[in-house]
Amino acid sequence: MFEKDVYIKRREALRRKMKNGLALFIGNTEAPMNYPANTYHFRQDSDFLYFFGIDLPGLAGLIDFDSGKEMLFGNDFTMDDIVWMGPQPTIRELASGCGITLTAPVKKLEEIISEALSKKRDIHFLPPYRGETKMFLGSVLKENPCQMKTRASADLIHAVVSLRSVKEKIEISEIEQAVAIAHEMHVTAMKMCKPGVKEQEIFGMAEGIALSLGAGTSFPTILSINGQTLHNHSHNNILRKGRMMVTDAGAETNLHYASDITRTTPVGGKFSSQQKEVYEVVLKANVEAIRSTGPGKSNRDTHILACRILASGLKDLNLIKGDIDEAVQSGVHALFMPHGIGHMLGLDVHDMEGLGENHVGYNDKVKRSEQFGLAFLRFALQYLPGHVFTVEPGCYFIPELIGSWKAEGKFRDFINYDRIEKFMSVGGIRIEDNVLITGKGHKVLGKPIPKTIEEIESVCS
Ligand code: GLY
Ligand code: MN
Ligand code: MN
Repeated sequence: MFEKDVYIKRREALRRKMKNGLALFIGNTEAPMNYPANTYHFRQDSDFLYFFGIDLPGLAGLIDFDSGKEMLFGNDFTMDDIVWMGPQPTIRELASGCGITLTAPVKKLEEIISEALSKKRDIHFLPPYRGETKMFLGSVLKENPCQMKTRASADLIHAVVSLRSVKEKIEISEIEQAVAIAHEMHVTAMKMCKPGVKEQEIFGMAEGIALSLGAGTSFPTILSINGQTLHNHSHNNILRKGRMMVTDAGAETNLHYASDITRTTPVGGKFSSQQKEVYEVVLKANVEAIRSTGPGKSNRDTHILACRILASGLKDLNLIKGDIDEAVQSGVHALFMPHGIGHMLGLDVHDMEGLGENHVGYNDKVKRSEQFGLAFLRFALQYLPGHVFTVEPGCYFIPELIGSWKAEGKFRDFINYDRIEKFMSVGGIRIEDNVLITGKGHKVLGKPIPKTIEEIESVCS
């Protein structure tokens, strides 16, 4: 974890934003895989990590905004635990590491909450996303665990979002380290991208690199010659010439800051002329979209710009026709890019998504569009210095979507359906980088990862 002052200051900043009541932060517990003692890889809750930094299961933190009191709850290990798990820090030692002096066993938390309930004090908590947390909250609050998500505190959500959105220098340096790990993962994947190789072999190497250099991947790696399926989690194909491999993979540092990078590599390492044509359009959308980011702009502006570049490039390839402004306004391009330009990045790869996408990327004035494509934009607001985003335009030839629009005759005046048939083997292309908004503009984070046609072909050779 970082120095204790980091956590003390973050909790102070939260106390300044919250008026009254108690805030309860429930850390994650171990989650059984196939029997109780055989657990999934432990991942601490990101809000708990942000305010308390302790990367261990079974803890809870409490902040009393009226008295300023802070407490850590957890049960000290027994001798039996120590025999199996080795020497363990006491709860008091853990608390001291993040600047807290008051500690108590978990049972005590029930009493404190019960007393607060009887005094009708406000009890704030963030939306739980795990069954165990919902059960725990339901039990201490004496309410239906299934209702816990809707009972989360809007005030606490907004306060936490405003703090976590603006990254501190130490956090940016962590994200840069996460990108450095992604660099190794992606260059290795590019070098292995040869006909006859099984996707699973490359997937395993990439995930292994993430584990050997950090805390593992920041999300399940997407690696497929069927990149037209946006989040393709199967790795059963054997690479064959004529296809392109989409690798969307990122790592977590040991402190759990994420990277999220996508590269697209032609199987065999040489782009065909048709692959080059589409790749150059997506690359232009990536480069120009990144170039346009900075304070005063919004992520919605970046999304629309990338869609315009994509539509205009596809018009040059005679896949789209008609007026580009009108096409983009109507959502024609979403046939080829049905997702948003990107999302915030931090302790979560989709940063703070658990707090509710609309609380992070939208507000009372900026409402989410209902248009297919634009509706999937996770963040539409203005950029602030310290924000970290992904910029990830793509172009996909999705047979089912194209078939359905064609059958409907949708946007017939804008789309050359017959010509699309000739591009189906391109599959999918996505190019994703991680970008910091600075005081004056932006900075692409981490060591540059090969992305031009020349760079990729050179790595593959
Ligand atoms: N890694 C999933 C995404 O790019 O959002
Ligand atoms: Mn990604
Ligand atoms: Mn992403």
